[in-house]
Amino acid sequence: MTDFSKYLTQKIFKAVSAAASDLGVEAYVIGGYVRDLILQRSSSDIDFVTLGDGIALARKVAGKIKPGLRVSVFKNFGTAQFTYKGVSYEFVGARKESYTRNSRKPAVEEGTLEDDQNRRDFTINALAINLNTGNFGELIDPFNGLDDLENKIIKTPLDPEVTFDDDPLRMMRAIRFATQLNFLIEENTFKAIARFKERISIVSKERIVEEINKILLSPKPSVGFKLMDKTGLLELIMPELSRLKGVEVVNGTGHKDNFYHTLAVLDQLAQKSDDLWLRWAALLHDIAKPQTKKFIEGQGWTFHGHNFIGSKMVPKMFKRLKLPLNEKMKFVQKMVNLHMRPIVLSEDEVTDSAVRRMLFEAGDDIDLLMTLCEADITSKNEKKVVTYLNNFKLVREKLKDIEERDAIRNFQPPVSGELIMETFGIPPCKEVGVIKNAIKEAILEGEIHNNFDEACQLMLKVGAGLGLEKKKS
Ligand code: CTP
Repeated sequence: MTDFSKYLTQKIFKAVSAAASDLGVEAYVIGGYVRDLILQRSSSDIDFVTLGDGIALARKVAGKIKPGLRVSVFKNFGTAQFTYKGVSYEFVGARKESYTRNSRKPAVEEGTLEDDQNRRDFTINALAINLNTGNFGELIDPFNGLDDLENKIIKTPLDPEVTFDDDPLRMMRAIRFATQLNFLIEENTFKAIARFKERISIVSKERIVEEINKILLSPKPSVGFKLMDKTGLLELIMPELSRLKGVEVVNGTGHKDNFYHTLAVLDQLAQKSDDLWLRWAALLHDIAKPQTKKFIEGQGWTFHGHNFIGSKMVPKMFKRLKLPLNEKMKFVQKMVNLHMRPIVLSEDEVTDSAVRRMLFEAGDDIDLLMTLCEADITSKNEKKVVTYLNNFKLVREKLKDIEERDAIRNFQPPVSGELIMETFGIPPCKEVGVIKNAIKEAILEGEIHNNFDEACQLMLKVGAGLGLEKKKS
């Protein structure tokens, strides 16, 4: 017997053991928690299964942990849950599940521990540890999940076609675990995903995106997107990304493969930032390259406006994927739209006004934009990389310098529209906008400083040029 009792040091396990014994039922800790325990990953959800009433067991355990602890009961599912010191504990009776083809919701009936382990997604997620007195700590591993954990293998406990047909979300989970844990998907399991990919259509977008977010937040997200591509799921879920694939050659000149470039950017970004939405921006930064691609004689391949068109594609994709349509989406749009700025700057001379304009548009997101752009350098030419990075350093220095001199970040016009109208005694009209814009442009160009006095003087000058007279006060 593989004895895991040394791992079960937390008070909860003894409490479950005692509660099960009081009720005369069997209890096991099972699933993701056992996997993570062996992998030494932290985990804030612990699942227990009992050959008995899960709700009664939860109540009994909660009473032992802390009298009066609130237990949430989900009668329809026969489950109960409580949270204690930030960890969620869930209890359920062992079950057998049978699925219909159109739904992920199974019909459930009471079962044995073996039935319960059979219905799980992967061998590494089907491990259970016995909590009963006498066998406390015994690992119950009918599918050699322990070996698969050691050999870093994702494999279904049953025929993969059955496991995926029962719940097609598991296809995405397989890819997500492979990415998060750096595991390989076993060949038959992999082939079944490719065969069953169309079944993903019965899974809600929210659940799919949950997995994509976990892939994005993994140390090397490219692994997941390559697997999605190879199995055919990518084409079904994010066809825009699939379209980035491929290299076209005209007159012997090819462009880079934008899919693999995007994934390289994403991996580089993952080394620099944990921000989920910045990672989304990296994934989508070149999304409009296929539409904007053009070969121009003497110039080669161009993708004019891909940043702007790409930023327009973001809301459509977010809506379809049921991603939030709020400031997170706007942030991604902004990053996609501005991602060429620092690169253009670093290719050209880094002028004050160009840096000031970029700061004006990026506002507080300027540092994240710079991080994205540094990750966007995937050239194989070492010399080029060094030049770009040095220029980015220069851009960052200029940014700091300009920040100290002018408050451009989150720019507020130093004179308001009301003041302009009052000064010249005019109603809201085109001239007000013209004056405001002239002031903003002069500040960004460095012709005047960002302060009230200089802006007022310019207001009078531009007003006079428009034939406006200062109202007598
Ligand atoms: N499970 C399953 N099929 C699913 C979802 C879950 O078989 N589609 C089973 C697995 O045994 C899994 C357990 O339910 O280990 C708990 O699921 P969940 O909490 O969603 O995932 P974890 O495996 O714990 O991993 P994570 O928390 O990283 O999602």
